[in-house]
Amino acid sequence: MKRILLFILPILIIVAIVLTVFGIIQIRFEEDKLMDDLQRKTRTVAESVDLAARYALVNTDLKVANRLVGKFQGRERLQGCVIYDKEGQVFAITERIAAWREKGKPYLTDILSSKLPRAALEKFKEYSVYSYILPILDDEDNVLGLVEVIYDTSYMYVILTELWKRISVALIILVFLIGAISFLIQRQMFILPVQRLTRWFHSFQRGEIDTLHSIKSKGELGKLASEVEQVALSLRVARKAVSEEAHARIAKDELWTEAKLKDLTHAKLGEKAFFVVSNREPFMHIVDEVSGKARCIRPASGVVTAIDPILRACGGTWVAHGAGNADKKFVNSKNKLGVPPEDIRYILKRVWLSKEEEDGYYYGFANEGLWPLCHITHTRPIFRETDWQMYKKVNQKFCDAILEELPAKSPFVFIQDYHFTLLAKLIKEKRPDATIALFWHIPWPNPEVFTICPYQKEIIDGMLACDLIGFHVQFHCNNFLETANRLIECRVDTEKFSIVRANKETIIRSFPISINGSLSVDARKIDAEAIAQIRQEFDLEGKIVAIGVDRIDYTKGIIERILAIDRFLEKYPQYKNKFVFVQLAAPSRTHIQRYHELIAEIDELVEKKNWKHSDGSWKPIVYLKKYFSQGEIRPFYILGDICIVSSLHDGMNLVAKEYISVKKDNSGALVLSCFTGASKELTDAISINPYSIEEFADAIKTAIEMPLKEKTKRMENMRKIVSENNIYKWAGAIITELSALKKA
Ligand code: G6P
Repeated sequence: MKRILLFILPILIIVAIVLTVFGIIQIRFEEDKLMDDLQRKTRTVAESVDLAARYALVNTDLKVANRLVGKFQGRERLQGCVIYDKEGQVFAITERIAAWREKGKPYLTDILSSKLPRAALEKFKEYSVYSYILPILDDEDNVLGLVEVIYDTSYMYVILTELWKRISVALIILVFLIGAISFLIQRQMFILPVQRLTRWFHSFQRGEIDTLHSIKSKGELGKLASEVEQVALSLRVARKAVSEEAHARIAKDELWTEAKLKDLTHAKLGEKAFFVVSNREPFMHIVDEVSGKARCIRPASGVVTAIDPILRACGGTWVAHGAGNADKKFVNSKNKLGVPPEDIRYILKRVWLSKEEEDGYYYGFANEGLWPLCHITHTRPIFRETDWQMYKKVNQKFCDAILEELPAKSPFVFIQDYHFTLLAKLIKEKRPDATIALFWHIPWPNPEVFTICPYQKEIIDGMLACDLIGFHVQFHCNNFLETANRLIECRVDTEKFSIVRANKETIIRSFPISINGSLSVDARKIDAEAIAQIRQEFDLEGKIVAIGVDRIDYTKGIIERILAIDRFLEKYPQYKNKFVFVQLAAPSRTHIQRYHELIAEIDELVEKKNWKHSDGSWKPIVYLKKYFSQGEIRPFYILGDICIVSSLHDGMNLVAKEYISVKKDNSGALVLSCFTGASKELTDAISINPYSIEEFADAIKTAIEMPLKEKTKRMENMRKIVSENNIYKWAGAIITELSALKKA
């Protein structure tokens, strides 16, 4: 629209100027014509009374003079007539202009002496009048007196104003017509063909259509179309070649890598577009409080850690809530940007939420309702009707944002987590051809627990619109099958592990999520210097270091961890001054009261236990409460002799896997809660029940005192599992399953 205006506006301005100038000239011309006319009329009238006036003046006959001027009393435009004697004194005057007598007329003397007529516009009361004065001469050319004829000129202004109006209306109509015609011409000649060409390019290069584009013109547009045609063809050929190569490579039985996943995606999804949806965005722009400048961070989220490497490998579009306070500054007009910012691999589309929406949907329903409902940590879920309404509204909002992006044919949509239980149903209503998977990143509780939720049926119903639902572990799949079986009318197929409802089948599978298993560029750069700096800063030299890395969340068992460390030092005081626990803790969901309270609880507990055990400059707990980037966390993992993961309940827990993956030298020991999904795979970790503080304290001692050989062996086994079952394998399994369900 802006461009069309830029094109049309100058034309309109020029037309308006030309027409206005033309109008002014015409008005002037008309005005002159009217004045001429008036002059002619007044002169004729004055001359017509010349003889009678001469008679009246010669005979000083006032009666004749009064009769003469009285004739003008009833005329419409002619206001009146005045007869002056040779001294310039009024001899007779039409009654209705009697007040004219009072007006000063210095010019009379000149007319009497020059004997020449005078025509001029004069002011009479508030009107403008036209006065014509004719000297009356006798036969010897002596001045007998003067005759003045006065005309009302207001009719001239009426005529001129009317003319102006007509010119203005014509001007407006013309400007409008020219504008409309230019717009239509532009649209017909340029916009529509370019739109058609864009659509054609999009579909042809993906192999969705085989027809040629419709632009046949030989001009510049034709040249552009032919260039576009070549590019589309090359792209199509290149895509095909990559896809065939991909088929060949994935057949090889080797470790899953980014390249292998890329091949699989090409082979399985072909030209179909891949869309990921999550609440948390993988890259967030926030204003740095210190420098005031915007910077890009990767939020602390298991979903982000897991899904980002997949999209880096396969490309596609990730739709997520733009929650960063500087996010709006970095998107284009379609709310999209290329990420990662330093090496663009895929598209992030940000969806904006109002404070009320975020409050009801995210803080309220998702995190005060579903989160505690699914995590058995004895935190009571809160379900408010207003939150549920907002949750539904936001699911619809995300649906609209996704529908805008979906291509014409059979797209794949991969939804993440408990924020979007209704999304699949909403998408399928508009796009039944979409193949949709949902991955549930948190535990699924047993049916008794789930029935607490007042919206249980709508949630299960919404989820079953998916073609595939994934959980981390089989146990959660079983819970889900049982929940659906109990709550809604459906058929559970325990052979196939699927649920059939109203002729629609949803496959339920476990896919244990993982990490990419290789060090990031940042991490590779980490050297002894960075670690030495941390050791020095926190006085860790020569100490046994245990680390914990978590979002501050009541499911993570941070309180239990501190209590266990306290008990460990009570029970085994020989480790005082020798052992330090470093906790990296990222504040999270701080607007929720329970999280707020938890932050204060942890602060207080750390302070109390440090005071209790401290000795000189040594204190057992270093509590670093802030957001840490991945690059900042890695040196802590490397120097950590022990990593403690003590979640009270956790879908998987990727911190455990990250720690193992970083320990390239097979050093270190992992103390892992038996209530994490990770504990099912990482059986060589030192397993704990975080609620049992005694057992937990002893496990720390076991981790410290375990013979090096055993530690190394355990770490080696766990590293093998993590590197084999990496995130690419996870994504590969889901994509394979999903593509088997592909809609036509
Ligand atoms: C869990 C959820 C994720 C979420 C993450 C961080 O891992 O499964 O969906 O992103 O916690 O929580 P947040 O609310 O900050 O996104």
